[in-house]
Amino acid sequence: FSIEYHDSVGSTNDRARELAGEGATDVVVLANEQTGGRGRLDREWAAPAGGVWVSVVTRPAITPARAPLYTLAASVATATAAREAGVDARIKWPNDVVVPVGDDGDYRKLAGILTEMEGQTDRVDWLVAGIGVNANLDADALPEGATSVRAEAGDVDRRRFVQRLLEEFDRYRGDLEAVVPAWRELALTIGQHVRVDRPAGEVVGEAIDVTESGALVVETDDGRVTVSAGDCEHLR
Ligand code: BTN
Repeated sequence: FSIEYHDSVGSTNDRARELAGEGATDVVVLANEQTGGRGRLDREWAAPAGGVWVSVVTRPAITPARAPLYTLAASVATATAAREAGVDARIKWPNDVVVPVGDDGDYRKLAGILTEMEGQTDRVDWLVAGIGVNANLDADALPEGATSVRAEAGDVDRRRFVQRLLEEFDRYRGDLEAVVPAWRELALTIGQHVRVDRPAGEVVGEAIDVTESGALVVETDDGRVTVSAGDCEHLR
């Protein structure tokens, strides 16, 4: 990967999309601070100086149906780098990196992933994996329900952290079969009572597994439902 560093930028994903549109690949956009960080579902993403705000531009030879594996790979890579930094990082389906609080499924969010892509039905043209990690941030500077590497385990060397994250991401994108097994090992959602909000309506039940394409399998009162995308909440 080649790295483009910004002390301050609107959104690394926006800059990465621009580069992707110009034909770039295997470029990483990294920033100390974002002034217009974006989260999933059109939410804002607070990204002050001290975090790890990074977007990876790739041009994978896959169909859009397999793209969720890239997002899962990014969350596995992020959780792995965080674990090496001493944080008990786990993954909430599909791709939030969280730290458990107690042992009934409660958690605080450490990192989030926003994947964006362009392509046709049979092939992806480019894919941008945007990864935001609350790294060296004070607990009181974080949104509600969030935590940071600093709060959990003390400051991390951000260069080293990004290097490990990219090494792991690179490994998994070259071995997509390994992504779901690794994800399962880190999953906090499996075994939880969940509610998943999706366009086709909500699904409530026990999360029992993920499929090989990364969809969540939920055991409901009316049988098993496989959910490929949605907002997942752990219930008590
Ligand atoms: C989420 O909603 O959980 C996803 C958050 C993704 C934030 C990252 S920070 C780097 C990249 N640039 C952005 O504007 N968003 C992503």
